[in-house]
Amino acid sequence: MSGPTGPRIRTQPNGPYIVTGPLTLEDAEGDIVTVPEGRTVKLCRCGHSATKPYCDGTHRRVDFVSRPMFEPEPVERA
Ligand code: FES
Repeated sequence: MSGPTGPRIRTQPNGPYIVTGPLTLEDAEGDIVTVPEGRTVKLCRCGHSATKPYCDGTHRRVDFVSRPMFEPEPVERA
């Protein structure tokens, strides 16, 4: 039995999106990048990369902190 063959997007805590192919990526200039099945690219999530849309590691220097996907309900204390 084989796994899913479509693209996969994972978030790295306090870091980039890790995108696994197969997929086609088109940047703001219209340049096309083909990511073959099983290969990955890291896309900037902090907004500070000098090589957008790719992560260049700047998130570490700017101490980027990702937020949780949801806020848990507050715990009521008696
Ligand atoms: S997430 Fe790495 S430089 Fe933005």
